[in-house]
Amino acid sequence: MSETNGHATNGNGHSNGHSNGSVTTTPTREPAHYALLKEKIAVLKQERQAIILAHNYQEGAIQDVADFCGDSLGLARMAQKTDAKVILFCGVHFMAETAAMLCPEKIVLIPDLNAGCSLADMIIPEQIRAWRAKHPDGVVVCYVNTSATVKAECDYCVTSTNGIKVIERIPADKEILFVPDYYLGSYLKAKTKRHIHLWKGYCPAHAAILPEKVDRLREARPEAEFLLHPECGCTTKQMDLADQVLSTEGMVQYVNRSPAKEFIVATENGLLHRLRTQHPEKTFYPASEYATCHHMQRNTLEKAFMSLVNMQHVVTVEATIAERAVLPIRRMLDIV
Ligand code: 13P
Repeated sequence: MSETNGHATNGNGHSNGHSNGSVTTTPTREPAHYALLKEKIAVLKQERQAIILAHNYQEGAIQDVADFCGDSLGLARMAQKTDAKVILFCGVHFMAETAAMLCPEKIVLIPDLNAGCSLADMIIPEQIRAWRAKHPDGVVVCYVNTSATVKAECDYCVTSTNGIKVIERIPADKEILFVPDYYLGSYLKAKTKRHIHLWKGYCPAHAAILPEKVDRLREARPEAEFLLHPECGCTTKQMDLADQVLSTEGMVQYVNRSPAKEFIVATENGLLHRLRTQHPEKTFYPASEYATCHHMQRNTLEKAFMSLVNMQHVVTVEATIAERAVLPIRRMLDIV
């Protein structure tokens, strides 16, 4: 494993550095002290009775030491399931909050408290209350990429894996207010044909994936299957063209069963580490070299190590908020 400008690559020559319309990621070596850190983390994990959960966008070294890598839904379920006393949550703050609310008896740590989410910051509770006042019969559905204070104002939560199923369970005569991701909301609206009002939030990392670039890449790599995350800024134009619209875990599972040898991957580039590690025989082209989540990259192996040393930074949600915010999450988990 090695890293390039915060992008994880597997460092075994699978950099996919092609010209001809494709983008390049150049592997460099993993820092020498990482081997020692990994050993120390393994020991500390035992001592603390901790489990390490890592989102698919985390740097490769973190994915390598994690007990479980997954998407937002998989991580929430794993947090619920584990009997570890401590969860070191290597992801962004709203994900750790979700784990803390689902498992109030466990200690949830995050390596860097500033690992937030620009998309989640695009809506605040007052805005939901004002929107609801204009649509008093509306059902408010939030993407999991929201703070606990926002979730406390919502009726249902969804992830990129289960949005269609959750929305289909809402009575057909209800109008839906969807926050905060415009692109995921557009996708769900097109798929379910429901009356959905969309908030105009977006993920900057996914918005960096431009349709023109994707078009060029697809022309240059006609054999490659095109996998698209529904948060992509190019969704509205590319949605119908994509071979598959999938969550990050959905992409991993799809690649596992697809006979294709090449894939264009339209999501945050941290996912490439997992794809390349699991499938060194396949080639993965990032849809944009700029699709980097700077918040996800705030967590590093060093900070993960320090989390276990000092039992920092504990993520908690105030009880009166958690009581309400956990309801839309539980409704979602009960459906799918
Ligand atoms: P997934 O649930 O597909 O992993 O996506 C999470 C996320 O935050 C995407 O930006």
